[in-house]
Amino acid sequence: SDEITVDRPVVLVGLMGAGKSCIGRRLAQRLRLPFVDADREIEQAAGCSIPEIFARHGEQAFRDGERRVILRLLESPPFVLATGGGAFMDPRTRAAVHGKAISIWLRADLDLLVRRTGRRGDRPLLQVDDPRAKLAELMEMRHPFYAEADLTVDSQDGPPDLTLERVLAAL
Ligand code: S3P
Repeated sequence: SDEITVDRPVVLVGLMGAGKSCIGRRLAQRLRLPFVDADREIEQAAGCSIPEIFARHGEQAFRDGERRVILRLLESPPFVLATGGGAFMDPRTRAAVHGKAISIWLRADLDLLVRRTGRRGDRPLLQVDDPRAKLAELMEMRHPFYAEADLTVDSQDGPPDLTLERVLAAL
């Protein structure tokens, strides 16, 4: 059969709007593995939403919680993890992902990221006058780190099937 198996967790990294959660959920189904969304795990651990964590405790507290959650999750048997866009900037998180997981950078161009992030207002970093400029700045800062992922897959506009097939082909 064309069953694909992995012997380590699969970790999706990339900017907000790249499709990490959407593709991650589908990838997990295809691999018959559990799916975990790091942002949701952090919210559960904190007992409040990400905007509330940022507002009440600040970004640094969010980053500390994010690292703790991801390092703990990486101790589990194979599963698929969608990280928040900033998670892979943390050197300890990067080291743990490199040591224990297969990492995939879901790469998308600026227009696609702007379109995809416009719909939801739950990303504190984009609550600014010019979210496009902010995404462009994050892109510039973060791409060198995302490029350290084991695999790079271009995120496709439109239905997620094609991107999912690209991810499966890359694995
Ligand atoms: C962030 C991305 C978000 C979330 C938080 C910060 C970032 O996750 O973790 O708002 O720094 O890029 P998504 O990439 O899933 O939107």
